[in-house]
Amino acid sequence: MAEASARAHPNIALVKYWGKRDADLVLPVAGSLSLTLDEFPTTTTVRLDPAAVADSFTLGGVAQQGTQLSRVTEFLDVVRELADSDVRAAVTSISEIPTDAGLASSAAGFAALAAAAAAAYGLDLDQRALSRLARRGSGSATRSVIPGLAVWHAGDDEGSFAEAVDGPELRMVTVTLSRTPKAVSSREAMVRTARTSPFFPAWVTSTEETLQEALEACAQGDVERLGHLTELHAHRMHAVIESCDPPIRYLSPTSLEVFDEVARMREAGRRCYATADAGANVVVLTTPEDAEHVAAELSVHGETRVVRPGPGVELISRTESA
Ligand code: ADP
Ligand code: DP6
Ligand code: CO
Repeated sequence: MAEASARAHPNIALVKYWGKRDADLVLPVAGSLSLTLDEFPTTTTVRLDPAAVADSFTLGGVAQQGTQLSRVTEFLDVVRELADSDVRAAVTSISEIPTDAGLASSAAGFAALAAAAAAAYGLDLDQRALSRLARRGSGSATRSVIPGLAVWHAGDDEGSFAEAVDGPELRMVTVTLSRTPKAVSSREAMVRTARTSPFFPAWVTSTEETLQEALEACAQGDVERLGHLTELHAHRMHAVIESCDPPIRYLSPTSLEVFDEVARMREAGRRCYATADAGANVVVLTTPEDAEHVAAELSVHGETRVVRPGPGVELISRTESA
């Protein structure tokens, strides 16, 4: 009976992924860019169980049912097809990330699950193949396979993977404002945006342009340009989400206060740029020099943490027992 464990970290998007052109293969409408963090790890163990008739999934010690379980089972079906296996598995995961709060629990969760499941089912995947596999669980997981700055190419099934890009030395300050689960999952909200927002076509074309500019800024080591694009693109994503019918709003009044405070610090000479994924929590892109100051200033709004670029997904163990 094979068992494997892997650890992955969340990533925060600088250029956001929002919208799929193929929901089954999880192919995005545009490429994206992110930073994998070195905090909030998720550790997942996959134990094959030839006697079991169904997969099981425990998250933080709680047995999961419904959508949570079916997402894991559907993902394992992809792995089983690659491995030519029909053996069921027991999946257990421990995460330091609040689930469904816009802090990328699905990214770390499915990157860790991809690596653990691939090892347990005996697949030998290189980094690119693992990134493509993680994509099938959650789009953002494509990038959590990769350390530090990662670009996810839109591509077709073969070409839609993430890889590392060089860039300036960065820090992120996470500002945890809310641990309440979001009302609408990223998955559902993306579908609604694509179906109902009149701005969606412009979002797709402008995202590709912003990605090219952000990659140039990375190559030039230009923090200010990269930061400017990051904050701009966050506003654009939340604007397109708010333009859905019925509308969805992830940012809270406190999130907006943090955005304002970050703009004020920037005017005072600090290099800091706010962003938020699909939730009320704000993350600030900054430099090693400015990070402590930014974290201290924002701590009146919520719990802050200075976070460094982190490692890609890591296989922790693999055992085979009779
Ligand atoms: P988030 O902003 O937290 O990524 P999403 O709506 O994108 O929110 O995804 C949350 C979903 O991801 C959960 O409801 C669950 O289905 C899945 N998920 C979260 N953590 C894990 C994990 N450790 N292992 C497997 N699936 C997970
Ligand atoms: C706002 O990867 O969580 O964080 O592919 O449906 O699982 P699914 O969605 P998910 O969406 C992430 C959206 C985002 C932006 C980003 O991470 O690029
Ligand atoms: Co997610």
